[in-house]
Amino acid sequence: MGSRGLDNVVNLEDMRLWARRRLPGVVFDVIDGGATDELTLRANRSAFDQVWFRPRALAPVDVRTTQTSVLRQTVALPVMLAPCGFARLVHPDPERAAARAAAQAGTIYVVPDPPSSSAEEVARAAPSSLWYQLYLPRVRRDAVEKLARVQAAGYETLCVTVDTPVRPMRERDVRNKVKIPLRPSIRLAAAGLSRPRWAKEFLFGRVGGAGVRPYQSLRAYKDLEAVLMKLYPVTRGDLEWLRTEWPGRLVVKGILRAEECEALTALGVDGVVVSNHGGRNLDGVRPTIDVLPEVVEAVNGLAEVFLDSGVRRGADVVKALALGAQACLIGRPYMFGLATAGEAGVSHVLEILKDEIDRTMAQLGCASVAEIDQTMIFRRG
Ligand SMILES: Cc1cc2nc3c(=O)[nH]c(=O)nc-3n(C[C@H](O)[C@H](O)[C@H](O)COP(=O)(O)O)c2cc1C
Repeated sequence: MGSRGLDNVVNLEDMRLWARRRLPGVVFDVIDGGATDELTLRANRSAFDQVWFRPRALAPVDVRTTQTSVLRQTVALPVMLAPCGFARLVHPDPERAAARAAAQAGTIYVVPDPPSSSAEEVARAAPSSLWYQLYLPRVRRDAVEKLARVQAAGYETLCVTVDTPVRPMRERDVRNKVKIPLRPSIRLAAAGLSRPRWAKEFLFGRVGGAGVRPYQSLRAYKDLEAVLMKLYPVTRGDLEWLRTEWPGRLVVKGILRAEECEALTALGVDGVVVSNHGGRNLDGVRPTIDVLPEVVEAVNGLAEVFLDSGVRRGADVVKALALGAQACLIGRPYMFGLATAGEAGVSHVLEILKDEIDRTMAQLGCASVAEIDQTMIFRRG
């Protein structure tokens, strides 16, 4: 895993293609794939292409900034790193690498539940720029224990994911016979032989990597499996309970219609993520950029609205901001950055996006994020 080659990564699709060359096909598919027919996966991208810009001419844009705030924390760009499990498949110490890259870029990383090292170890890597994503345990006692641990580790913002009531069906993984945790098999051995560098890193961790022990992957995947086995449909009652138990900021991830928003804001939720899990859960749901305006309207300024799923360009981020998002999150692009060049790969992804956002803002006639409003875009119909 090295940063040589990053010069050739001009955009986020280049990063994806590089990762496809570096990873065994079965592992690439775990990251890249979507649910069933992958309708939503594709629509997440094409929907951004239906939003057009209306640039403002003659605007003073020689001095610009991509800086904004997220839940009252200043960030250098309106992009955060979404929580992504399975990252131990592509990097020996993924969460700490992502945390450091996010901190260095001046933004936030949402640590997945559970990270492959511990919540505490990740928190120590970059304490001020982390949220913790939660799959709420069904048993209250387990939930209380987890919340106490997350709070004690220093996390102030909890992002509870509510769009995964059951394990989703991703047919690429079924066809590839992928089981998490990865178990030794002829197929996996063949995959490892075709990508020996990946196999070495997966089994033994990066040589000299801080705190990474041989075979840690298998332990990390057992922990993840334990969480996935216990997925259950989170209800409004669960969120009410969570709101009273968790003293910090609370963000709800996976909202796709306006009707829920009033109840969420009444609960005192601080943020809502319009997300279809990157097209990985329910296939056939609308792309998030299409859903965003109705959620923004329903939330009515009582919480911040974020968007993920399919964001691949700085222009996509600007379009989401114009439609009322406070910031966007990205998933797969930084996972591919981790897979190719580790922390430097994630940094590179964030740098590309920042540069694209800045250039788009200049060409649109916006010197600051606050100037990006609905007048900047046009949508047919
Ligand atoms: C490999 C992978 C693992 C993911 N794991 C989680 C997870 O553990 N928790 C969660 O809330 N979302 C998870 N997600 C969804 C992301 O947080 C995010 O919603 C999605 O990746 C955004 O779409 P994008 O990949 O098109 O940017 C995962 C996504 C990917 C690609």
